[in-house]
Amino acid sequence: MTYTRADFPEGFDFGVATSSYQIEGHGFGGAGPTHWDDFAATPSNVKNAENGRLACDHYHRFEADMDLVAGANFDCYRFSTSWARVMPDGFTVNPEGLDFYDRLTDAMLARGIKPCATLYHWELPSPIADRGGWRNRDIADWFADYTHAIMSRIGDRMHSVAPINEPWCVAWLSHFEGYHAPGLRDIRATARAMHHVLLAHGKAIQTMRGLGLSNLGAVFNLEWADPADDSLEAAEKAALYDGIYNRWFLGGVFKGEYPQNVLGGLEPYMPDGWQDDFGTIGTPVDWCGLNYYTRKLIAPSGGAWPGFKEVEGPLEKTLMGWEIYPEGLYNFLTRTAREYTGTLPLIVTENGLASPDVIENGAIEDPQRLAYIDAHMHSLQRALAEGVPLRGYYLWSLMDNYEWACGYEQRFGLVHVDFETLERTPKASYHALAKRLGR
Ligand code: FCB
Repeated sequence: MTYTRADFPEGFDFGVATSSYQIEGHGFGGAGPTHWDDFAATPSNVKNAENGRLACDHYHRFEADMDLVAGANFDCYRFSTSWARVMPDGFTVNPEGLDFYDRLTDAMLARGIKPCATLYHWELPSPIADRGGWRNRDIADWFADYTHAIMSRIGDRMHSVAPINEPWCVAWLSHFEGYHAPGLRDIRATARAMHHVLLAHGKAIQTMRGLGLSNLGAVFNLEWADPADDSLEAAEKAALYDGIYNRWFLGGVFKGEYPQNVLGGLEPYMPDGWQDDFGTIGTPVDWCGLNYYTRKLIAPSGGAWPGFKEVEGPLEKTLMGWEIYPEGLYNFLTRTAREYTGTLPLIVTENGLASPDVIENGAIEDPQRLAYIDAHMHSLQRALAEGVPLRGYYLWSLMDNYEWACGYEQRFGLVHVDFETLERTPKASYHALAKRLGR
């Protein structure tokens, strides 16, 4: 690896991220059923129909897991709290759930780790899904109530908080592509979810301001889109992909508007009065988080709106089949600051890759992950040199975990998990980072 902590500005935070459903084990501690349990129990949605009932059993092993975070010299741990654990029926508080996050918070603080919370990383309580989930405008108020419940308990000790992880995944991937729970493929449901997810974000920020909390942000997943060829049609479709994936959410929160090219398809399906919600959606935040993994090559496909398709690109790929394109991270850091956030601090809240990591003689070599991290750190350096107010870089993920529709096959961890024994074994990348991030 090329870079060490000393190559980054004073106070720059290095972190590592996980999420509740992917690691905790939702079969414990009174957590309620989630739409991911329901989705996974429906044939052919998830590889091997796997779910998060046991996952990494982090619920019982969090102390040792926090030792792993501290052992690699990370400053921050980005974790998420589960709505279904805190409120198993979506509405009623489960004291055991609050107690768990209380213990987890104190475990971080005891090790000098800054707790960075996300309040929704996709495990919607099934009873909320029964009421229409993200299609129902009322979800914004229900989410605000949940925000109040969990943050009244642990908010005083959080370093930072963001309400919702990756609104594009919550809305488009789950309601238009049907690839994530609840597995819908419906444009009307999509338009509603695209809007309500941002309304819920805004209400949660307001709720936390009411509790006197600070250092509140938003976390977007951004994916660079390049036209598959030189045609005008491909350029237009790449711009539409960019609009749906990236500009809709950034535009809603930071400009109080949605991109015209996307409204061209979604406007007839939007909920009544959507134009009046930007005051709430745009409630000021203190930082903007970017999750970045890859880019896509986009071409016209014909057929119904949006009429585009992804074309396989020529670059080296990860186990997920995602092209490795560090340039895209540089592009997003500079573009987001220039067009949306100005001097607001930016944090890369997720970056990483899956590789087919196996233990040999007690060790795990993951050279592709090391090269990937190095190349993306180079993009951070370029952006910093141009004055982008970048304040942190968090890796996905601390350990191998439940990778949603891919089940347990895609290993994103710096730490290997044996899903038979649940034994944790740090990979070569973990050891390299621990050295590079030491003070
Ligand atoms: C992100 C998600 C995270 C994980 C990584 C690989 O989109 O936030 O839960 O699935 O991708």
